[in-house]
Amino acid sequence: MDKTFISNSKEETIDFGDAIGRIASEGDVLLLRGPLGVGKTCLTKGVARGLGIDRVVQSPTFMLIREYQGRLPLYHMDLYRLVFKEIDELGLDEYLYGNGVCVIEWAENGEGLMPPDAIVISIEYIDDNRRKITVTDDNDTDFIDRLQKELK
Ligand SMILES: Nc1ncnc2c1ncn2[C@@H]1O[C@H](COP(=O)(O)OP(=O)(O)OP(=O)(O)O)[C@@H](O)[C@H]1O
Ligand SMILES: [Mg+2]
Repeated sequence: MDKTFISNSKEETIDFGDAIGRIASEGDVLLLRGPLGVGKTCLTKGVARGLGIDRVVQSPTFMLIREYQGRLPLYHMDLYRLVFKEIDELGLDEYLYGNGVCVIEWAENGEGLMPPDAIVISIEYIDDNRRKITVTDDNDTDFIDRLQKELK
C-alpha cells in the first residue's frame, strides 16, 4: 500500500514528520529516499519533534548516526557516504531491531540490509518549495491509516 502527500513548504514537511513521530512505535524503521537537498533531514526534524525531542536535529552526515531521547529513542542515520560493504560491517541490527525508531537517509546504499517491514518514504521535487512525499508500506500494516488520521 502507498499514499502520496504534497508538501508546500519546509514547515509543512516538518509538520508531516511530526505526525509520523507522534504515531511511531518501538521498532519502526523509516527509510528516506530522494535526491540531495530534497528534505530528508527536514522531515527527520519533524519526526524528532513528534517524539518529544527538543534538541536540534542536525544532518548526521559526518557522524553517521545520532541518537536522541524522546518518548522513544530516535536513531538518525545517514548512509550517503557509505557503500554496501561498509554498511554491512557497521552492524546496524542493534538499532534496526532495537527499541527505538530508526530514520535512515540514503538507505538505498544498504539495500538488502534493511528490515522487510520498513516503511519507505520517498521525497521528490515538484519545484523550489513543493515536494511530493510517497509513503509505502509493503506489509500493509495500519501505519498509513494512522498517519492519515493524525494529519487531519
Ligand atoms: N517543501 C519542502 N520540504 C522540505 N524542504 C524544503 C521544502 N521546500 C524547500 N525546502 C528546502 O530544501 C532543503 C532540504 O534540505 P535537507 O537537508 O532536509 O535535505 P536532505 O534531503 O536531507 O539532503 P541530503 O541528501 O544532503 O541529506 C532545505 O533547504 C529546505 O529549506
Ligand atoms: Mg540530509
